[in-house]
Amino acid sequence: MCGVVGYIGKSYCRDYIIQGLSRLEYRGYDSSGIACIEPKDKKLVFLKSEGRLQNLIEKFNDFPINGFAGIGHTRWSTHGIVSQQNAHPQFDCQKTISIVHNGIIENHNDLRLKLESAGHIFNSTTDTEVIAHFLEDLLVLHKALMPALISLIKCLEGAYAFACLLQDFSDQIIVVRKRSPLCIGVGQDEMFIASDLLAFSGRTNKVLFLPDESFAIITKDLIQLFDFNGNALPIDIKEVITDSTLSQMGAYESYMLKEIYEQKSVINKCVTSFKASNIWDNLGVTPEFIKNLDTINLIACGTSWHAAKIAQFFFEKICLIPTRVFLASEFRYMPFFPETKSLYLAISQSGETADTLEALALVKSMGCASAVITNVASSSMVRQADGFLLTHAGPEIAVASTKSFTAQLTALYWLCNKMALEKSIITQKEMIASEEDLRLAAEILENCIENYKIKIITDLAIKYASYKHFIFLGRHISYPFALEAALKLKEISYIFSQCYAAGELKHGPIALIDSQTPVILFSCFDSVIYQKLVSNAQEVKSRNGHLIVFAFEGQTELIKLADTVFVIPQINPLLAPIAMTGLMQFFVYQIAKVLGRPIDRPRNLAKSVTVE
Ligand code: M6R
Repeated sequence: MCGVVGYIGKSYCRDYIIQGLSRLEYRGYDSSGIACIEPKDKKLVFLKSEGRLQNLIEKFNDFPINGFAGIGHTRWSTHGIVSQQNAHPQFDCQKTISIVHNGIIENHNDLRLKLESAGHIFNSTTDTEVIAHFLEDLLVLHKALMPALISLIKCLEGAYAFACLLQDFSDQIIVVRKRSPLCIGVGQDEMFIASDLLAFSGRTNKVLFLPDESFAIITKDLIQLFDFNGNALPIDIKEVITDSTLSQMGAYESYMLKEIYEQKSVINKCVTSFKASNIWDNLGVTPEFIKNLDTINLIACGTSWHAAKIAQFFFEKICLIPTRVFLASEFRYMPFFPETKSLYLAISQSGETADTLEALALVKSMGCASAVITNVASSSMVRQADGFLLTHAGPEIAVASTKSFTAQLTALYWLCNKMALEKSIITQKEMIASEEDLRLAAEILENCIENYKIKIITDLAIKYASYKHFIFLGRHISYPFALEAALKLKEISYIFSQCYAAGELKHGPIALIDSQTPVILFSCFDSVIYQKLVSNAQEVKSRNGHLIVFAFEGQTELIKLADTVFVIPQINPLLAPIAMTGLMQFFVYQIAKVLGRPIDRPRNLAKSVTVE
């Protein structure tokens, strides 16, 4: 993971580097650092700090380093504990070569052993540091930068992107990319380097996305791009639409709360823009291909995987297409039987998740039809897949997914209905009704928060914040929703939350039921499943369990069994997860707030998981 930024040009670099790092903190935030070339004596200087970026910013009061070329980093540790030594930049022995890096150098142990036996002294336990020491050796060997770089890159294994600033080549920054994303923003006599163009959004809209397995030598007004053999590559600069208003929290106390409240408008925006889109062209398929589809394969991680698991019900119920859902990290290592009449659909908020990206690459290499549902138009997955559907959730800054989840569900539900229309399973009238249902679900999502807001803040959140463990139960479509709810609670409150399919309770987990372990049960708006859930609720109550229920209006039996109940208006059963989402997120948010957690940036996490 980690955020990499760099600047070379006519202005001092520090402002951009700090702004860029703060925008990339979603990629990791356990430590940060900067290196730059002092304009006066052309020496490489640096500053690093453990913890949040603010700690680094405060250090500038005593060490106000700056320059016209610099690189910066915000870290999500993979190799080595969180410490100042392990923060990037990392250096060679002379401290004249600095490296900021995202990804993993898989053969770092071998390289380190060789370098150590050649006399190099290491200061950190990171894999990154080997790059600096190795380049130090290669520069001595080759006496020139270009051959040294080529030799270096050829020996590094893994998926990585790094930027390198050298004291002896102070008017250049080197960037290298293998699978992990990296881009260069082209300005007027200045270049911006970043893992994600979000970092320089508002400064330039001209971007070079480094091709896979390439490196570039960058000066303030020139980019030279090469493949890993040193052959020059063409420079394909794209104009992108960037949004510099992205990180405004407005009047909200946190990004997560803001993003919870944005969901109603996000759903409406999605529906409006999907209706106006040329969907099959966008997805890179033909109407005939859709008509003849035999299966759908959904691939994702985390919250996006939960959205996919919910969508399985959409595709199978509405479209009558057998649908399989894969965790991207598992998909890649399972036997692959390419299906020609299948759409392989990756789902990813960021479009950068390493496992999903690799799964997509595998699908493509097998010649299967691939598309991605993502929130980021400029993401690697959009470039990788045959087509894409954009979710229009807007930048999601809080680490815990909220509005991107509902936007994914909206996209998947709408797409499924559109497929059913193409296959003549539903009529145009039913298609319009499905869009209206989505807008109704958005309305309910927000109204439910408002209905329970005061009670949650003044009573329920305080009461439930004192519990150490929770069990989540769901059934049918509410099971993957319960998985998402349990994930939300654990990631932002650090309370242990275990989720089961309600029918599994009696097969073992029921041993955990006691008065100190609240059970949160999500109902379904389906009469058969509902009756089964009532039985599951009774099993909990008859063992002295404490029951919190999310039920629908009219589900009296279940409502009566609950110690705490949230009642939600009736809705199309397949859209129940969307309708419940706002309230569920608001409830767990308030528990985390009572516990004083850093909700937008929970410990150990990163927004975009760009390592495998
Ligand atoms: O960007 P992606 O949707 O591919 O990210 C996948 C997961 O890392 C992500 O959904 C994660 O589980 C959530 N942020 C948790 O709230």
